[in-house]
Amino acid sequence: MALNRCLLLLRPGVSGSCCTTLRPSTFAVQRCLTCLYVNRLESVTTKRQYISPTPLPPLLAAAGSGSSGGNDDPFKVPDTSLFVPLQVKPAQGADVDIGAELTQVLNKSDVLKLLNKFYKRKEIQRLAAENGLDARLFHQAFVSFRKYVMESDSLSVDLHVILSDICCAAGHVDDLFPFFMRHAKQIFPMLDCMDDLRKISDLRLPPNWYPEARAIQRKIVFHAGPTNSGKTYHAIQRYLAAKSGVYCGPLKLLAHEIYQKSNDAGVPCDLVTGEELMFVDPEGRPANHAACTIEMCSVTTPYEVAVIDEIQMIKDPARGWAWTRALLGLCAEEIHICGEAAAINFVTELMFTTGEEVEVRNYKRLTPFTVLDYALESLDNLCPGDCIVCFNKNDIYSVSRQIEARGLECAVIYGSLPPGTKLAQAKKFNDPDDPCKILVATDAIGMGLNLSIKRIIFNSLVKPSTNEKGERETATITTSQALQISGRAGRFCSVFKEGEVTTMHRDDLMSLKKILSDPVEPIKTGGLHPTSEQIEMFAYHLPEATLSNLIDIFVSLSQVDGLYFVCNVDDFKFVADMIQHIPLNLRARYVFCTAPINKKQPFVCTALLKFARQFSRNEPMTFDWLCRHINWPLVPPKNIKDLVHLEAVHDVLDLYLWLSYRFMDMFPHANVVREIQKELDDIIQTGVCNITKLIRVSETSEGLRVMTEDEDLLAHMTNDRTVNLENLSTAMKALSPRRMRGTKVLGYRSVESDRHSNTKGPLATKLMEKGLLTKELLNQLQREWLKSQIKDESTAGKSDHNDPKEKRKKK
Ligand SMILES: Nc1ncnc2c1ncn2[C@@H]1O[C@H](COP(=O)(O)OP(=O)(O)O)[C@@H](O)[C@H]1O
Ligand SMILES: [Mg+2]
Repeated sequence: MALNRCLLLLRPGVSGSCCTTLRPSTFAVQRCLTCLYVNRLESVTTKRQYISPTPLPPLLAAAGSGSSGGNDDPFKVPDTSLFVPLQVKPAQGADVDIGAELTQVLNKSDVLKLLNKFYKRKEIQRLAAENGLDARLFHQAFVSFRKYVMESDSLSVDLHVILSDICCAAGHVDDLFPFFMRHAKQIFPMLDCMDDLRKISDLRLPPNWYPEARAIQRKIVFHAGPTNSGKTYHAIQRYLAAKSGVYCGPLKLLAHEIYQKSNDAGVPCDLVTGEELMFVDPEGRPANHAACTIEMCSVTTPYEVAVIDEIQMIKDPARGWAWTRALLGLCAEEIHICGEAAAINFVTELMFTTGEEVEVRNYKRLTPFTVLDYALESLDNLCPGDCIVCFNKNDIYSVSRQIEARGLECAVIYGSLPPGTKLAQAKKFNDPDDPCKILVATDAIGMGLNLSIKRIIFNSLVKPSTNEKGERETATITTSQALQISGRAGRFCSVFKEGEVTTMHRDDLMSLKKILSDPVEPIKTGGLHPTSEQIEMFAYHLPEATLSNLIDIFVSLSQVDGLYFVCNVDDFKFVADMIQHIPLNLRARYVFCTAPINKKQPFVCTALLKFARQFSRNEPMTFDWLCRHINWPLVPPKNIKDLVHLEAVHDVLDLYLWLSYRFMDMFPHANVVREIQKELDDIIQTGVCNITKLIRVSETSEGLRVMTEDEDLLAHMTNDRTVNLENLSTAMKALSPRRMRGTKVLGYRSVESDRHSNTKGPLATKLMEKGLLTKELLNQLQREWLKSQIKDESTAGKSDHNDPKEKRKKK
């Protein structure tokens, strides 16, 4: 199969595909001259040749090779546990056995003995290692080879003759090696293309990926300073004054804010987020200015000024790649970077590799904040303008309920609320004429909302997070996080010019002071992410591998230099595993896997699964179909569980819009979906306005406990009648031990007390009662889950979807 068309895929931030047709060539790998996507063509020569990325001008190339090490670096040893052996069926049913006619019928027990002898020979093991088979692969290849030889009715003539010769001492057992290697390469096709795979996954010179940016000399200005010091303000002033500009921010809210500000200032500006593309021009012609979420910025459109906000997020384990891409790739005469001073050295260093100078402008806070010498201790001591910061939703519910019990009104802001609701709550809190004077929020207030806060009160200093292995853990907040949140105290242009910061509990105050006075860790690396085209090239080499396995092999082989790290691909793999059984082409599969969903939300995961299935049947997701799935129209929430569900529905609509932007034909009703999403935002707003009432109802009616996220996930997945065992198993695996035990609890009940009552699995009983789960299925789930606890997560992920027994398509 010759790939003679550039296969540049849609990926976050890249729209459209390159239509350049590559000349058929004898080269194995060719670079598409339009998008510089390295395209691999069928080789008609035996020798593979690789055309390296476009060479840089000598000066840049020299700078680029600084800390990056050259291409002479020793290659990384691959993690061979990721190499999933393909099944090779024994040859059976041949009419004539030519080998036997030419020599003799083989005595299988003699053959078995000589094969085992072959396996034990040190020379063979060494030779195998030289050919890329470590002990694990050697063993697996041997077992498969032996099975093939022993179970085949007739072997190929050459192999038969060699075996016959060895049996009658006319040949040496080592003569089997070429046949063994031939078989090994059949079951491990990666052995045959390791060099190509390594070259594809070589991520050592990211500046070279952006030829348009490298072709111009960019002026880089770094606006450095703490939160609320006017960094973004000054960068935006320059953006507004320019003939053309792009703003790249971390949140939809921020992109919206700049879009609004720009248009209000008479500078026509479009809005580009993953879910929304709004042209100010009624005929849809792009304006000269655009406000985007950073993943969506164009690295091929020329601008006079580009603003990259919150640059410290370049170190974000999941999203950092988007900042690296913007920083290296934006095609603007001036790049204005805003963010923490901790990123200055890192950005300067990165710009050495592009040959660009960085001008640093330092800012001080417009409104000072002080850390108080006393903790709040009791909610009785609350004052107008106070904001209590919690790090989980249960604390939000609990604290707001206690505030209400004191006859005070409070606004509530947390991450999963829709943007309209967040803005409405912020407005209510900021409004001097509104009786609501207290805010209860998560660290979602760190970015993107203008809030008139006088005092920040940390309810705790411990925040749940996901570590690099994808495991849930709780950790004390970092200095950078503490500063970001504290920075919200005091606001320029508000009644609270001077901010204050303290803790709820006396014990935490000293720790907070220490955290805030610690130096901020300087940023040392920026994120990178495998691109769709790289993965597609991997798939070309390893057509039988699952997408999740391809990603694993890619990451395991990839090489980055000291300035970069490969971003966490767990969420990507989670979706890849979930939709593996659905027949989709690689391009569509990849896009589905990059959809920004929260894998902890079962309703959203189920929706993605349904979208993918419907997509694979080529049936468009119409508005009516969607309404049936989400039960639209919806009513205001009666309790917290309803509210949580409505938030998930809002995310499903976001997912629809995100996909509609990439597959317009299959998700044809984006406009009306956007309308109902606004309606839903209003419904949620109504609920959140009465959040304390909802909490009260939840306390008194169904009891305090709402379903655990994990139970919820299983419940939804089993409600989806066509979900197979594989999905359930994947879902179970995605839940860390901590999450399998933890329970989402409302009100004042402790997580500990519920933890025990919950481990017996009442959900399982309920599901069995409903006939959704059989005992056999439950046992299998338990076994699989236990197995996944023991195994390394990635190994477990691999083994499941390659065990044909587990490949049941339908429940
Ligand atoms: N020179 C200025 N004139 C008027 N408003 C300003 C000025 N500098 C900052 N602000 C306002 O102060 C607030 C904080 O500024 P911002 O640029 O968002 O800070 P940072 O980006 O450093 O966190 C914003 O509401 C912004 O509009
Ligand atoms: Mg800012």
